[in-house]
Amino acid sequence: MQIEQLGRYPAANRVIAHVSDTHLLRGGAPLGGVADTVRALGQVVAQLARLGDTLDAIVVTGDVTDLGEADAYRRVRAAVEPLVDATGADLIWVMGNHDERGPFRVGLLDEEPSDEPVHRVLHIGGLRVVALDTSVPGYHHGELDATSLAWLAEVLAEPAPEGTILAMHHAPLPTPLALMDLLELRGQEELADVIRDRDVRLILGGHLHYATNGTFAGVPVSIAGATAYTMDLSAPPRELVGIDGGRSFTLVHVYDDSFVTSVVPVGPFPVVTSFGEEFLAEVEALSPEGRLERFSRKPPAAP
Ligand SMILES: [Fe+2]
Ligand SMILES: [Fe+2]
Repeated sequence: MQIEQLGRYPAANRVIAHVSDTHLLRGGAPLGGVADTVRALGQVVAQLARLGDTLDAIVVTGDVTDLGEADAYRRVRAAVEPLVDATGADLIWVMGNHDERGPFRVGLLDEEPSDEPVHRVLHIGGLRVVALDTSVPGYHHGELDATSLAWLAEVLAEPAPEGTILAMHHAPLPTPLALMDLLELRGQEELADVIRDRDVRLILGGHLHYATNGTFAGVPVSIAGATAYTMDLSAPPRELVGIDGGRSFTLVHVYDDSFVTSVVPVGPFPVVTSFGEEFLAEVEALSPEGRLERFSRKPPAAP
């Protein structure tokens, strides 16, 4: 899909959909008896399908299922793989604390079950994505043990042509949410030591169930909201409240020397304003001056 450059920036080199915390249950049962996680995931897939072949990769940063059930993994995969077929995008699964390594491997990766961490390195052209498994079997907090950190250090010893994105469920950012700080990533100082002065350009995470951004060891961190339900940052400070709304995913646009992350609300919503392809083609056919007159010029002010 060719989009002509009308402004200062060319189209992004890569477009990555960052989806997180789908939390499906066996049989597609509603989460907490309330949240329709199946419909939400279907809506995300429908929205991403509109991007067509501009989409290069889909990164799912964990809590793919709520209880690690085989049927839940089957359902997520069946929902997402048609999107892969339609767009040609690469698909990258990351383990979360609600996932179980054995069923995750069998259900999503067609591998034999094993309790070893599910770390992976994938390449989108010259861009390297390192999927890190921060889960701790039997617990909900996150941790990278010495073996995992040594593995990461070895991977990062060799830089990638377009740099590296780390994708990890428990991302190293503080949260103001009550109780969630107990479920944070442990060993963050050691992680900082491993990524400092390496080619990591961006860290993607999930787990918090709200979209947020910050920096860690000088690296931008982008945490995607959940598709299952949203943690309410406007709840009283000593309460942790998840709500059936405010769902989102994030798009990562990769440029030569920067990244832009953008939060996309999960609809559907009524359309307020819309310009179609025909109008775009009309604008593209104009001279630079004509384009400004056609789309930037304000109508005369009312008297
Ligand atoms: Fe989650
Ligand atoms: Fe989580």
